[in-house]
Amino acid sequence: MIIAKTVTDLYQNLKHIRAQKLKIGFVPTMGALHQGHISLVKRAKAENDRVVVSIFVNPTQFNNPEDLQKYPRMPEKDFEMLQNADADLLFFPTEKEIYPEGSSGKNGFDFGNLEKVLEGKFRPGHFKGVGQVVARLFEIVGADRAYFGEKDFQQLAIIRELVRMKKYQVEIIGCPTLREPDGLAMSSRNLLLTREMREEATKISKALFHIRDNRNSKSLSDLISEATAMIESTGKLRVEYLEVADEQTLEPVNDLIKSKNYRCLAAAFAGNIRLIDNVQI
Ligand code: PAJ
Repeated sequence: MIIAKTVTDLYQNLKHIRAQKLKIGFVPTMGALHQGHISLVKRAKAENDRVVVSIFVNPTQFNNPEDLQKYPRMPEKDFEMLQNADADLLFFPTEKEIYPEGSSGKNGFDFGNLEKVLEGKFRPGHFKGVGQVVARLFEIVGADRAYFGEKDFQQLAIIRELVRMKKYQVEIIGCPTLREPDGLAMSSRNLLLTREMREEATKISKALFHIRDNRNSKSLSDLISEATAMIESTGKLRVEYLEVADEQTLEPVNDLIKSKNYRCLAAAFAGNIRLIDNVQI
């Protein structure tokens, strides 16, 4: 695997790949990689001739400096995992490479309601920051396909909207959420949990599965109250939101139509660590 730290270096390496008209799959990440990330790399590897991965902890999508500062960073371990997953090219830039003119003032994408609901209500500006960095990465890498996890379901919707707005010639592939054996969605932030909170955190997916498994036998409002109570049962976790939404618009729904699929999405705090998860119901 080749590691490119500058845009120039990356272009040099991509030049040979493009000259041979090879298909490029791209997996953008913020590092602290786990098997969820690796599943995207493997899928990209299976569907393309070459795979480019990026690791960049993007400051413009963090709502507070403390969250940015404590975000886990372990480049050496990441390099090894990517090497083992057979990634071809790693783009590992500094902030200056991504934002040569600074990161402020270019944060102007308007994703409408998509950026205001769910996560958007509690993380103002977060999706503008995601849009800003992914647009920049798409323009630098120029991939044929880009791979994103359903773990960040709203982010996936935002990326699809970005591609539509900017007419990028990249196909967006959504990939299923990988979970730990006890159901917890894999996340780089899980590394920050104490042993006690790590155990508590399994309640989040259990509550979402509870809604999914009972969707046709109970009212949605009862299910949401029960799921919230499950997560908060010992008072150690705090639910920030738990909603059922239309899969396309992400608008919250109050009643379910039997034949239709929806997404149940939640965010909860385990101490000061914020975890998100979602399932199709
Ligand atoms: P990061 O949180 O590192 O995630 C990188 C990619 O891995 C995202 O598409 C995310 O949805 C996916 N992913 C994370 N956990 C997963 C899991 N358990 N199963 C499957 N896929 C999973 O998302 C970001 O970085 C950033 O916002 C980024 C898109 C890189 C822009 O900065």
